[in-house]
Amino acid sequence: MQMIEVGDLTLSPGKGSRQSKLFHAIRSKIVSGLWSNGGKLPSTRKLAQELSLSRNTVIAAYEQLAAEGYIESRLGSGFYVAVELPEQYIDANITPTGKVPQTPHLNVNAPFAPGVPDLAQFPHAKWQRLLQCHSSLTSLLGSQDIQGSKELRIRLADYLASSRSVVCNSNRIIITSGAQQALSIAVMATLKQSDSILMEQPGYTQMDKIIALLGLDKQGVRVHEKQGVDIDAILQSRSQAVYITPSNQYPMGTAITTEKRLKLIEWAMAGNRWIIEDDYDSEFQFAHRPYTSLQGLAGQMGMDGQVLYIGSFSKVMFNSLRIGYLVVPEHLVEPCLMIKDALSGDTPGHTQAALADFILEGDLLRHIRKMRRLYQDKYQQIVRSIEYYLGQHVEVISQPAGLHVTLKWQQGIDEQTWVSRAKEAGIIMRPLAYYEHLHNENVRSWHSVVLGYGNVALGDIDSLISSLAMLFHAKKK
Ligand SMILES: Cc1ncc(COP(=O)(O)O)c(C=O)c1O
Repeated sequence: MQMIEVGDLTLSPGKGSRQSKLFHAIRSKIVSGLWSNGGKLPSTRKLAQELSLSRNTVIAAYEQLAAEGYIESRLGSGFYVAVELPEQYIDANITPTGKVPQTPHLNVNAPFAPGVPDLAQFPHAKWQRLLQCHSSLTSLLGSQDIQGSKELRIRLADYLASSRSVVCNSNRIIITSGAQQALSIAVMATLKQSDSILMEQPGYTQMDKIIALLGLDKQGVRVHEKQGVDIDAILQSRSQAVYITPSNQYPMGTAITTEKRLKLIEWAMAGNRWIIEDDYDSEFQFAHRPYTSLQGLAGQMGMDGQVLYIGSFSKVMFNSLRIGYLVVPEHLVEPCLMIKDALSGDTPGHTQAALADFILEGDLLRHIRKMRRLYQDKYQQIVRSIEYYLGQHVEVISQPAGLHVTLKWQQGIDEQTWVSRAKEAGIIMRPLAYYEHLHNENVRSWHSVVLGYGNVALGDIDSLISSLAMLFHAKKK
């Protein structure tokens, strides 16, 4: 039962009794759907006080509304907006506010939806405890540091240095609303309207949206199957920046070698160009030790002045946490903070405090280690199942890393049809076309889809791939 907040209820000026004006004011709220069915009206005493009316006036108005079926009186409980409203049927074009339009529901976390970690494995109880510890701290209720909690930035600097060799201190870190906001800030802080940016092709669609929104000139850099991003094309380019996922290219699942990373750093330094490094899931490498981050490599040579490093807790914890981070050269800290301030202001304080403790108490590392083993098992299972059910047609082209596999095939069903069939069966796959943003380029002669295995239980992978194989082979209707 929802209590109705009287809000702006006022009696109209002019002729008529107060009782009649109150009747019409409430009636109009109900008829227009602003006071929804089943909502509890304030007591007659409270409403009389709020509107400076006599209690008898309110009682009489309520009785009239009840007599006409707009509200009902429940013994010992009060007055409620009545369910059966004649006007609701007559006034069909009024959409009651507060009701979400009924759109077909797409479960964005359905099996194989890319980008979702194993949500069931997260240590919920521990996280709840940490949140609760901080929930009574009055200091966290006020405005927070725009840059993000100092405590969290210190913990994060330690974590990034040890796990990704990122060269930074807490003053160079900005806590953001997911990597998404970090990417927006990075672009806005470094590029002007007339500048151009190199974007991996295929590449991360969320980044493409930012570039389009800001109206920047976008140049595509081809990402080749297994070889990775075309470094020579970048080295020949005069663009002012490059967006790159060097450790696990999204979505092709390739990595660039240290030698190529060094060339890229030289290119940026020589032309005062920017490297925007998105290191979104490097914690999960199954075949070898992860490459040192590009920022870390540049930092070791004192050449990190042109690199902006971006990461996220979406994969190592859970998506709806909405916490990411940006590590920038010192001279970019202030410009980035101005942009963050304008875009969103500060970041929720309790979440940051709990996260700082989660890192300090070793829970983040414990969770990552556990998940690395589990994701590796899932990766091996999905590759086995794909080989078993689809091996004659489909090949896995992405490296053993991260939370997704990228599949390729030449003959048979087209990617869009397979994706649509899977969707009808409650499975989400992404066609490679979703990540291709330069539509004037040569059309591919092969098909490809991306499958995220993060949020699929290990034991369910085989049967889901078997279902997908049946949809792959099914004859056209
Ligand atoms: C390439 C890439 N970057 C970053 C992210 C993380 O984004 P966010 O922190 O906004 O959830 C993802 C998540 O899927 C991704 O695929």
